[in-house]
Amino acid sequence: VPASRHSIGIGLLGLGVVGSGVARILDEKAAVYASRVGVPLVIRRVLVRDIEKERAFAPDRSLLTTDPEAVFGDPEIDVIVEVMGGEHPAYAYIQRAVETGRYVVTANKEVMAKHGPDLLGLAQQKGVDILYEASVGGGIPVISPLKRDLLANSVSAIAAIINGTTNYILTRMARDGMGYSEALRQAQDLGYAESDPTNDVEGFDAAYKLAILASLGFHTLVHPDQVYREGITAITDRDFRYAGELGYVIKLLALARREPDGLRIRVHPALVHDEEPIAKVDGVFNAIQLEGDLLGRVLFQGRGAGSLPTTSAVVADLIDVAIGLVRGWRDRLNWVREGQATVAPMESLRTRYYMRLTLADQPGVLARIASVLGDHSISLASVIQKEADESAQTAEIVIMTHVATEAGLSKALAELRTLEAVVGVGNCIRVETTV
Ligand SMILES: NC(=O)c1ccc[n+]([C@@H]2O[C@H](COP(=O)([O-])OP(=O)(O)OC[C@H]3O[C@@H](n4cnc5c(N)ncnc54)[C@H](OP(=O)(O)O)[C@@H]3O)[C@@H](O)[C@H]2O)c1
Repeated sequence: VPASRHSIGIGLLGLGVVGSGVARILDEKAAVYASRVGVPLVIRRVLVRDIEKERAFAPDRSLLTTDPEAVFGDPEIDVIVEVMGGEHPAYAYIQRAVETGRYVVTANKEVMAKHGPDLLGLAQQKGVDILYEASVGGGIPVISPLKRDLLANSVSAIAAIINGTTNYILTRMARDGMGYSEALRQAQDLGYAESDPTNDVEGFDAAYKLAILASLGFHTLVHPDQVYREGITAITDRDFRYAGELGYVIKLLALARREPDGLRIRVHPALVHDEEPIAKVDGVFNAIQLEGDLLGRVLFQGRGAGSLPTTSAVVADLIDVAIGLVRGWRDRLNWVREGQATVAPMESLRTRYYMRLTLADQPGVLARIASVLGDHSISLASVIQKEADESAQTAEIVIMTHVATEAGLSKALAELRTLEAVVGVGNCIRVETTV
């Protein structure tokens, strides 16, 4: 251990769910970490918005500040741990940390998805690094496996459940027959969903995480805007009931795959057969399945959020950085970009579909529907008549298709909507296989 290093100084940005977990565990396990690293890990400053606020755990009050200069100006701070969240000012703070020669550990998926490549490039120039294991899948190790353990593979596919809030909502809808609004309200009451749930339920959060995973896995640059995205708000309790009867569950999947016309990268709800491993990932749990040419499939599963699981990933990165600093190691494995990503258009996607339609109860209607679908090369795997509403003289049917193209499906749906006999298209959800 170089004599100059008597400790590793930490500047903590944020003392919320994750930040207070990090502060608490650095305190509770101080001796263990000091022996692992060789010197103690010491929090020197903590940036917050409101010093007076009550906290789950707070270090010595004198360390708290609302002034970022108090953190960046402290020469004893070697590592900045950013657990504030949001794009601004977190992005500027991470940049500032790197520019002033600090290592950074962050849990911020939005900043790393939108600006990760620039920030990592800057860090390399400055001879430091940014570690971001906690940004995807909370405590589940997945960034590090992609950066290191899978390096010998060409990753061909990623299939993941990486948003705990939506997975909790979908699980309640599936298990308890709850409607979307009720399940969302429960998630909010339990602190799993924020009061404005847009980021989660519209799939933005999952798209940020998938952009990070795809960039690492495919050694390219995937911006979150390149991820096709649909949220879960259109799914009804009926869809769950019918999917269940057919042997499927509905999950918000994050999918990325190398295909002949480019990378297909998407976040949307999907029917998944209930026997597939990913279909069994329930509640706030997350799972990430990667497929490599040498290894085949590997599935990482665990707690994708929460104070201590996320702290597990943040502190692991911190210990990694600290050991490097103590031993004078500068270089670690970095993200190497091998090319520019071409993103395949959704229109060329080939998959199966579940469709729920309300039809006028007239003779010959089904034949008309089948003929419209047939015109777009969509063949039916099954058609099940569900409820009939005798007073309205309508019937609800559920169609499962064989593999079709997204382009054909969009055209067929548009045409179906113009038919007098089609009272409504209840929903149309892709059916995916992850095994
Ligand atoms: N929660 C999880 O389970 C989880 C899991 C994985 C990743 N993450 C990521 O971890 C990060 C933190 O999440 P969190 O749940 O811990 O958030 P949080 O509970 O809302 O805490 C945010 C903290 O940052 C501080 N802060 C926010 N904006 C600030 C500003 N402009 N200046 C100074 N301080 C500011 C807040 O200060 P005050 O306390 O004074 O308001 C608060 O202490 C996010 O990037 C999130 O996506 C969270």
